[in-house]
Amino acid sequence: MSEVSYSLVNNATGEKVDLPAIGGTLGPVGLDVGKVYDKTGAFTYDPGFTSTCSTKSAITYIDGDEGVLLYRGYPVAQLAQHCSFLEVAYLILNGELPNKTALETFDQSIRRHTMINEGLKSFFNGFHYDAHPMAMLTGVVGSLSGFYHDTGNNKDPRHREIFAHRMIAKIPTIAAAAYKKYYGQPFMYPQNHLDYCSNLLHMMFAVPAEPYHVDPIAAKALDVLFILHADHEQNASTSTVRMAGSTGTNPYAAISAGIAALWGPAHGGANEAVLNMLDEIGDVKNVQGFMDKVKDKQSGVRLMGFGHRVYKNFDPRATIIREECHKVLKALKIDDPKLELAMKLEEIALNDDYFKARKLYPNVDFYSGIIYKALGIPVNMFTPMFAVARTVGWVAHWSEMVGDGPLKIARPRQVYTGAAERNVVPVAQR
Ligand code: CMC
Repeated sequence: MSEVSYSLVNNATGEKVDLPAIGGTLGPVGLDVGKVYDKTGAFTYDPGFTSTCSTKSAITYIDGDEGVLLYRGYPVAQLAQHCSFLEVAYLILNGELPNKTALETFDQSIRRHTMINEGLKSFFNGFHYDAHPMAMLTGVVGSLSGFYHDTGNNKDPRHREIFAHRMIAKIPTIAAAAYKKYYGQPFMYPQNHLDYCSNLLHMMFAVPAEPYHVDPIAAKALDVLFILHADHEQNASTSTVRMAGSTGTNPYAAISAGIAALWGPAHGGANEAVLNMLDEIGDVKNVQGFMDKVKDKQSGVRLMGFGHRVYKNFDPRATIIREECHKVLKALKIDDPKLELAMKLEEIALNDDYFKARKLYPNVDFYSGIIYKALGIPVNMFTPMFAVARTVGWVAHWSEMVGDGPLKIARPRQVYTGAAERNVVPVAQR
């Protein structure tokens, strides 16, 4: 508990309720409102959780005003510069960067868990031919719970570790299988001599009929993108995983719930929406007209890839991705007019009073789609890519929650706005 003290005052009676402040290492304190209902008979109300901490966590820190993002204390830009995605995954899961031996052991374990049960593959056959890959990902990851159902062991750290390694290793295999199903190509087995991102690209783009060489530039670009997407504290999908997990459900089912939450265009689906938006605008000459629509509240049009609930300065991931985007397009010798269009949109938005007044800046998804496109990844696979990377965060948060003390079910309350109590009139008399 911190030294700072807060209380809630009932203005009519002068009665006070103390709100103990929960202090962390960095950032604002959280006021403990757990006793407010007991003491006042009133609930606290915060529908979008704009002022509400749902938990304490030691994994990721964000300072939205300063544009800071730390995984276990390390700035994300340093991690993207010096580490591989699996090194960062180890850090997020275990709290410390691995030494060489620990990294090798972790890497081996992930490589050994990449295959999926042959029975699981048949689940894909049930999907409609044009099912969105996120629909398949949600369903098939959920069905992993039918293969690994020993949830009684959630308190056992070794059990949680095996779950983490399985989930991180199998999610690229499942995402690639969803891609193959969508495009009507045969599934490709993982090749465990390949690193994490090369293996994913191989499973997506190789075909049995001919050899396939993974472009190291593409694998490296994906690795950096995955580092930037690996965790983001209590975002909507992670909170969903925690909420589902708080009931003691099967952890694979909890991850599936997180994937469903990620899919929406306000969250992970924004990367797909950005590319669709750029397609719709089509040309630099149409940018101003589009911006006018965005600013007209009646139109319901938003500038996708802009704005963030937490970042009210800039999204540090967006800065790295912007640079990465230029690097990748140059290295792959791609001249994509979409990049020019995106830069024009960004320039206009950053100088426009509407965006300045609301502190709306480009977020991580504004440029990630252009990189994915340059790597040959189709638009409907952008959000599955995000899901592969974010699996690390989901697994780490689930494990932190389950491992930390008694598990309390997450059960919010509501302000009821329906009919007051009334009597049923039998149907014959209605
Ligand atoms: N384009 C136009 N106006 C916007 C936008 C936008 N992208 N984002 C917010 N606004 C306006 C909004 O209309 C509101 O205006 P007013 O105060 O006049 O009513 C104001 O800015 C505050 O918006 P809000 O919806 O209350 O803010 P929020 O914190 O609830 O929403 C957000 C955050 C990310 C959902 C929202 O900014 C948005 O819809 N952005 C576009 C979708 C997007 O890029 N999402 C990816 C987020 S980053 C990846 C991830 O971590 O998931």
